[in-house]
Amino acid sequence: MTGALAGKVALITGAGRGIGKVVAERLARDGAAIVANYAASAAGAEQVVSEIVATGGKAFAIKADITSFDEVKAMFAEIDRQFGRIDIVINCAGVSAGGALADVDEVQIDWLIGVNVKGPLFVASEASKRMGDGGRIINFASVMAEYPMAGTGIYTACKMAVKGMTESWAKELGKRGITVNTVTPGPTSPGMMDNCPPGYLEHFQQKSPFGRIGTAGEVAEVVAFLVSPAASWVSGTHILAHGAAIPD
Ligand SMILES: NC(=O)c1ccc[n+]([C@@H]2O[C@H](COP(=O)([O-])OP(=O)(O)OC[C@H]3O[C@@H](n4cnc5c(N)ncnc54)[C@H](OP(=O)(O)O)[C@@H]3O)[C@@H](O)[C@H]2O)c1
Repeated sequence: MTGALAGKVALITGAGRGIGKVVAERLARDGAAIVANYAASAAGAEQVVSEIVATGGKAFAIKADITSFDEVKAMFAEIDRQFGRIDIVINCAGVSAGGALADVDEVQIDWLIGVNVKGPLFVASEASKRMGDGGRIINFASVMAEYPMAGTGIYTACKMAVKGMTESWAKELGKRGITVNTVTPGPTSPGMMDNCPPGYLEHFQQKSPFGRIGTAGEVAEVVAFLVSPAASWVSGTHILAHGAAIPD
C-alpha cells in the first residue's frame, strides 16, 4: 500500500461500528495495516476487514473485551504474531450513560469506568511495550469533559481521566518519540448519538452554529492528521471536533 501510513500497523478499538469503524476505514486509506478490535460487533469488524483486503490492504479483526487485561494481552500477542509490530493505537471504544445523582447505579459505574478508563489504560500499556520512535496513541474524550451537562457526572469524570492519562503518557512516552493526544468529539453520527432519547438530537443540533451534529468522517480526519508524520510536534493535547457546539 502507498500513503502516509504505509508500513505502519494501527489498532482501533471499537472498530465494528460507530466512529471507530470509520476511523479504521480512513487510516486504511492512508496505507496502514488495520487491526479491527470489537467486543460484540463481529459483523461490522469483519466488514471493515473485507473492504480493506478487497482494495489491496492488510487487516484482521479481533474480539477482545478491553475491560479484561488478559483479553487485551491476548490481542497484542495476536498482533505480534500476524503483523510483528504496532505503530498506532486508537482508543476509540467507549460507552456512555447518565442519570440523576440520586439514582446512582454501582454496576453502571463499574461498566463506564471499565470501558472508558481501564480499557484505554490496558491497551496503551501493552502498546507502550512494543512501540518505537514515531508511535502514536490517540485517546477519545468527549465534549462532556469540557462542558459537563447535568446527569453525566460519571461519563464526564471518565473522559476527564482520559485527558489526564493523555498528558501523563505524552510526557512518559515522548522520550521515546511517541506522541499521545486526545480527540474530543461533540455529538457525532454514526455513533452513540444514534440511539439517544427523542429530542436530544435536535437539542444538540441547535447548539452548533452549523445547525447540525458532526459526522464520524469529520472526526476521522482529525485522527488521520494526528497519526500522520505531519503531527510529529503535536503531543499531550486535546483536540476538539465539535463544530463550536457548547452543550448545556
Ligand atoms: N458519537 C458521539 O456523539 C460521541 C461524542 C463524544 C465522544 N464520543 C466518544 O467517541 C468514542 C466512540 O464512540 P461512538 O459514538 O462510536 O460509540 P458507539 O457507536 O456507541 O460505539 C461504541 C464502541 O465501543 C465498543 N465497545 C464497548 N464496550 C467495549 C468493550 N468492553 N471492549 C471493546 N470495545 C467495546 C463497541 O464495540 P462492540 O459493538 O463490538 O461492543 C463500539 O464499537 C467513544 O469513546 C465515545 O465516548 C462519541
